[in-house]
Amino acid sequence: MTKLLAPSILAADFSKLGEEIKSVEIAGADIIHFDVMDGHFVPNLTIGPMILEATRRVTSLPIDAHLMVTNPDEVLESYIQAGANYLSVHVEVCPHLHRTLQRIRSLGVKAGVVLNPHSSVTSIETVLEDLDYVLVMTVNPGFGGQKFIESAFQKVGQLDKIRQERKLNFLIEVDGGVKLDNIAKISQAGTNLFVAGSAIFGSEDYRATIKAMKEAW
Ligand code: DX5
Ligand code: ZN
Repeated sequence: MTKLLAPSILAADFSKLGEEIKSVEIAGADIIHFDVMDGHFVPNLTIGPMILEATRRVTSLPIDAHLMVTNPDEVLESYIQAGANYLSVHVEVCPHLHRTLQRIRSLGVKAGVVLNPHSSVTSIETVLEDLDYVLVMTVNPGFGGQKFIESAFQKVGQLDKIRQERKLNFLIEVDGGVKLDNIAKISQAGTNLFVAGSAIFGSEDYRATIKAMKEAW
């Protein structure tokens, strides 16, 4: 089964972002997770297409843009033009989700849908053929360093079951509160893409932490 570790640069030191990205790449990261927050969909305000374009210039790793914005349809193309390889939108703000996914795929990148902790798998069951990954939020979006919401395990298991039953190929991504001490359990539930911000950037030795996480999953 595909397993990929995606450090979230939300927890990086922004005063030396280029170096931080290079450091996790050298340390064994598989994907760079890029958290876009607009100050409306979530209370926090972070980074946009200009920083994504700069990120693209310092790494050859795929970039996974997670759009926590109220208007993804209006802005998604600018993130793809800036160099995103994976792009996810929240189900809660996509009235025409099928169309949005088709558009993301037509622009040549992997299309993902994000479920907030309160959003159900049922809300996306009809588009599972039309996406490349489902991102299960395991904290309420907006900030790094929060505690993993245990009830999310059930959602990951539910998605994994549907994936097997319907012989689908989408990946399951988990974002929020992923640590060395819970990554094995998250993996057993069927997760493929593991986002980790504070667990990696908050550690002393990125290489040792990434290695330990990959040994544990
Ligand atoms: C939260 C973001 C996450 C965040 C995870 O809204 O989507 O990607 O960076 O941070 P940690 O791993 O510290 O929970
Ligand atoms: Zn994220």
